[in-house]
Formats: sequence, structure tokens, C-alpha cells
Amino acid sequence: MRGTVAMGRLGPDLSHLMSRSTIAAGSLPNTIGYLSGWIADPQDIKPGVLMPVLDLSGPQLNSIREFLGTLK
Ligand code: HEM
Repeated sequence: MRGTVAMGRLGPDLSHLMSRSTIAAGSLPNTIGYLSGWIADPQDIKPGVLMPVLDLSGPQLNSIREFLGTLK
């Protein structure tokens, strides 16, 4: 994300995630359902992808989803 102190370098830039119509290199429609599925288990959707399974709890997944929704 641009404009944060985290200065992340590992994955793609998600700064304007919600303005895009697809995610995961164009392979998935950017809907709340696909986005949640991706964050919960990217390896199931795209085996071998360089994003690990994060093993998030339901509440953690909800918080992240809510935050991602603000990235217009
Ligand atoms: C809560 C933490 C995370 C969230 C919310 C998240 C979210 C996402 C999302 C939404 C995408 C699709 C992006 C796009 O289409 O441009 C993505 C892709 C990706 N993420 Fe993550 N991610 C997280 C953690 C990580 C971590 C820890 C890594 C690496 C160690 C990582 C590596 C990647 C990579 C390499 C991709 C590109 C996959 C592809 O397009 O084939 N992510 N992530």
C-alpha cells in the first residue's frame, strides 16, 4: 500500500484495489466473494502462487476485508 509506514515489498501494490475489475493477475473477478476466498487460501485458487496461506480467523478475515474495501 502506498502512503503507509509499512513500506511493503512482498506482494503486488494494493493501493487502488477496489478500482480494479480483476485480481490475481487477471484470473479472478474482483468481487467480495473471490477476494475473501483469495485471502483465506490463495494456494487453493492458484497453486504455487507466491502468497502464503495466512491461516486467519473469521474475525481477522472480516477486518481485512473491511479494510481492503476502503482502497478505492
Ligand atoms: C493480510 C495479508 C495479505 C492480504 C490482505 C493480501 C492480499 C492480496 C491480494 C488482494 C492479492 C491480489 C492482488 C492483485 O491482483 O493485484 C494478492 C496477491 C499476492 N500476494 Fe498477497 N496478501 C497478503 C499477504 C501476502 C504475503 C504475506 C505475501 C508474501 C509473502 C503475499 C504475496 C502475494 C503475491 C506474490 C501476490 C501475487 C499473486 C498473483 O497475482 O499471482 N501476500 N495478495
